Amino acid sequence: MSELIEARVPDLGSDSGVPVIEILVKVGESVKKDQGLLTLESDKATMEVPSPVDGVITDILAKLGDELSAGDLVARIQTAATAPASAAPAPAVAKAPEAPAAPVKPVAAPAPVAAAMPPAPAKSPTHQLDNGELVPGKVPYASPAVRVFARELGVDLLQVNGSERGGRISKEDVQRFVKAALAGGAAPAVAGNGGGLNLIPWPQVDFAKFGPVESEPLSRIKKLSGANLARNWAMIPHVTQFDEADITEMELFRKKLGEEHKDVKVTPLVFLIKAVVAALKKYPAFNASLDGDNLVLKRYFHIGIAVDTPDGLVVPVIRDCDSKGLLALSRELAEISAKAREKKLTAADMQGGCFTISSLGGIGGTAFTPIINAPEVAILGVSKAQTKPVWNGAEFAPKLMLPLSLSYDHRVIDGAAAARFTAYLAQVLADLRRLLV
Ligand code: COA
Repeated sequence: MSELIEARVPDLGSDSGVPVIEILVKVGESVKKDQGLLTLESDKATMEVPSPVDGVITDILAKLGDELSAGDLVARIQTAATAPASAAPAPAVAKAPEAPAAPVKPVAAPAPVAAAMPPAPAKSPTHQLDNGELVPGKVPYASPAVRVFARELGVDLLQVNGSERGGRISKEDVQRFVKAALAGGAAPAVAGNGGGLNLIPWPQVDFAKFGPVESEPLSRIKKLSGANLARNWAMIPHVTQFDEADITEMELFRKKLGEEHKDVKVTPLVFLIKAVVAALKKYPAFNASLDGDNLVLKRYFHIGIAVDTPDGLVVPVIRDCDSKGLLALSRELAEISAKAREKKLTAADMQGGCFTISSLGGIGGTAFTPIINAPEVAILGVSKAQTKPVWNGAEFAPKLMLPLSLSYDHRVIDGAAAARFTAYLAQVLADLRRLLV
């Protein structure tokens, strides 16, 4: 029998009158039990009100900005009929058996976006927290409006010092944090003994005194990526390992592939993706993220590609590169670069990366020091291949050499491991048969 079930706000602990900041579902939408229906955000935490049952939303009774308390009705959900419709009586309005007891799904306050990633346009990604993490004092103290503002800018409120009474964070504190990050100095991040960077202020110069100037606003992407890059640069102990790969034979094969498949542009980048996946398999610490004192080792191979767009750098992710061939990767690379340049990337297109490749090979340069895209632990920079005389033991022979610049997080990766990683990459690129081993 089909039932009309009421979804109510569960016990919120001590909070009452908590504002709705996001409605996550629409009337007519099918939902699963425990799926978030809407997001509430208090001074202490952000939480989702879950659906008590599987069913279809028939009414949504809460609006954005409503202040809700435990027991308030937020939606009605029609469950699926278990008997033939003709035999079914009129749907009964019933309370979900566990509605008041259903736990709220607490989610993190603004998560910092990954480098160069604009924030999720509509549904901000949420992150499940333990109840322990909701203890006041462990969460930043800021109003919902300030939290939304911080989330839009990709600012992690845990890193912002609150200047108001009791350490409450104001909008101006967030603005100051972003300004400091954009100015090149990282924000005064961590309080406590020796934790803050304690930098002198950024120089304030009236440039017009020295000649004509113009001022133009930074693009949104530049503002977001700037804050992320500054954080990553300041918080990760970077070291960059340089190497070169002999890609003379790879280049002959690439040209042949290009002649055989005129419908797709095959560039050196896709060979690099395959070689990186092979190196990540051989050295799993590079396919990892730090989580406190643990290292999370990933068993999937999603590679982020830094794409230059007129508005700044973005990093779309190509998924499951281990199971895709060179032509499939070439097509996907063309698609995501076009999407990036047409500003059509979604937040999902830029999430889940394990390792990033930043290729400036089509432009020039001999080496550079890329900034790690946190929470990844390494990034490969690729510069322009050049023909060089290489000693083969008997004579100098012309070889096409590809410069590689691997920046790595020294907390996770030792110099010797990085040297082995780039040496292996160079071996694979020099002899692609190694991809089969
Ligand atoms: N050495 C020599 N030539 C190279 C090369 C390399 N390492 N990498 C690419 N090329 C060649 C390509 O083969 C292509 O040549 P062709 O037109 O004669 O066939 C040309 O350079 C242009 O390649 P490109 O269009 O850039 O393709 P790509 O697959 O190499 O790169 C993107 C695609 C999206 C990554 C690239 O366009 C891009 O945006 N790069 C910038 C990334 C960036 O800004 N990083 C900054 C980090 S701080």
